[in-house]
Amino acid sequence: MSGYPRGMLSHPLDPLSAAELESIVAGVRAARGLDERHLVSMVALEEPSKSELSNWSEGDELDRSARITIWDRVAGLVSEAVVGVDGNLRSWTDIAGALSPVLGPEALDALAAAKADSRVIKALADRGITSPDDVHMETWPFGAQIPAGLDDGRRLIWTPMWHRPTPEANVYAHPIGGLRAIVDLDTGEVVAVEDQPGFPIPQTPAPYRASQTGANIELRELAITQPDGASFSVDGWQVSWERWKFRIGFCQREGLLIHDVRFDDEGTERRIAHRMSIAELVIPYGDPSPGAYRKNAFDTGEFGLGNYTNSLTLGCDCLGEIVYLDVAVTDGDGAVREIPNAICLHEEDFGILWKHTDELGHVEVRRGRRFVASSIVTVNNYEYGYFWYFYQDGSIEFEAKLTGIVLTLAAEPGKDYPSSTEIEPGLLAPFHQHIFCARLDLDVDGTANSVVEIDAVAEAMGPNNPHGAAYTTRETVLTVESAAQRLVDPFVNRYWKVINPDRTNHVGKPVGYKLVPGHTTYPMAHRESVIGKRAGFMYSHLWVTPNEATERYPAGDYPFQHEGGAGLPDWTSADRSLVNTDVVLWYVFGTNHIPRTEDWPVMPVERAGFHLKPAGFFRRSPGIDVAPSAPKHCH
Ligand code: NI
Repeated sequence: MSGYPRGMLSHPLDPLSAAELESIVAGVRAARGLDERHLVSMVALEEPSKSELSNWSEGDELDRSARITIWDRVAGLVSEAVVGVDGNLRSWTDIAGALSPVLGPEALDALAAAKADSRVIKALADRGITSPDDVHMETWPFGAQIPAGLDDGRRLIWTPMWHRPTPEANVYAHPIGGLRAIVDLDTGEVVAVEDQPGFPIPQTPAPYRASQTGANIELRELAITQPDGASFSVDGWQVSWERWKFRIGFCQREGLLIHDVRFDDEGTERRIAHRMSIAELVIPYGDPSPGAYRKNAFDTGEFGLGNYTNSLTLGCDCLGEIVYLDVAVTDGDGAVREIPNAICLHEEDFGILWKHTDELGHVEVRRGRRFVASSIVTVNNYEYGYFWYFYQDGSIEFEAKLTGIVLTLAAEPGKDYPSSTEIEPGLLAPFHQHIFCARLDLDVDGTANSVVEIDAVAEAMGPNNPHGAAYTTRETVLTVESAAQRLVDPFVNRYWKVINPDRTNHVGKPVGYKLVPGHTTYPMAHRESVIGKRAGFMYSHLWVTPNEATERYPAGDYPFQHEGGAGLPDWTSADRSLVNTDVVLWYVFGTNHIPRTEDWPVMPVERAGFHLKPAGFFRRSPGIDVAPSAPKHCH
């Protein structure tokens, strides 16, 4: 199944359609007399507040608007306009000091300028490369110190380069060491060429296309068929599956979003979450070599990760009965681009949900199934899959799938590289971390919630612990923002629970959902480093803030070349109260990637994520109500 009806507009939280985006861009251009010096950095739905949403009912008029960020290349100024989807300008605000993220058209201009630069052409010729067309260049923001003399506030990118010796070669096998152009994004001028000789271009090819590798390990067909159709329904952007109901959202910065999550608990629809997204992704690199240390990109805030969403038509990304949703984004020149089949909705068998064989030999077993909402982006060398899973036991899981090709450097012969892995002779993959920050606006049975940290504690042996194996839990309400910047701690089995203090369960305890950390990492960059300051959110795994519509991105709204301190570290310095209020959890997680030779030439999927599980929310396991499988499936 594919090609879900496009342009159906039925709910205030629906993503902006292509027609709406066109009207918004045309409206702001006309109202403000914008011309080619003005680029469109970002367009985001102005989401209605919770009270506006609760006052809205189906059939009511939709008063939709968007926040559009305009970059004036000549004045070097970011402005934010709020524009109705009818094109009417509602407000215009200049944002002093902000810089636009990298935009597609200017990145293309920068690459063309670098390829045409006589210094680059000569440096390539010195390395035996006669045509710049055989060179793959990328535009990377400065994730670390900008070279002296260029640090006057202008927007810059630099261009790592790779050789393409044959038309279908894997370019990442052939990094061109020591050579980079630095381009002023706004003037399109190559302002510096860094050329350091002495780095032989690694020559070992790294083919991965089936036509090149002859990949021939095959298994017999495994068919996923749903002869009676899928068990979910999609109405506009709302999904109903099993007892779950939620809305799919999308924005060009964060990509896939989940809104308004509810669960039907024995006939009562109960609220669990209002909005969940991955609000930032930053990748600090740990090799001090010139080709690596600058690569600390904020893929969400500096690129707009959603802009790079794959069209899933072209591959075999999902199996079974699929519903795809299309999305639309606005490119820097204001052109609206549709991404067909951007979001995949489907069900997966997930093994057993529960089982017990009793003392009489009676067996009860239930197969489990999960609902999956997913999308995949390609940002230069890397792919990131965002997968949200909904389970029949009332739990939710987020899983990032990391794949694609590791970044590479050419080694200087005779030099040690203690912060990289040599994956082929002379070819290095620098150590790095992928650090995600989820923004989780949970509403557990309503908006008035508190957050509790739960540690398991063993008392000293003595009267309270006579046999030495007793342990209990210590619950600490995170009352203010300064007390709610926390680290994972597997030694005390730490987790956090969002509770509704005013709603109790059948044993008189507040209802709650817990956030269960999964595999994660801690930043290796020092806090006082440039990237440490710019991504200050990395230094706590959990942050909690009172919900503020303007507090969306943990490294601030405009991380591009920002000196740091914005976002979570800034907001939480107010030390606001978190008790019995509308809270937002910010959960920081990721992986420490010490590349393996087995990550080459394309990295098998690595995973990182977290679970949200009911904890005292239901009176018993919601899985009990799942019927046994039909006998034909069970023999
Ligand atoms: Ni990696």
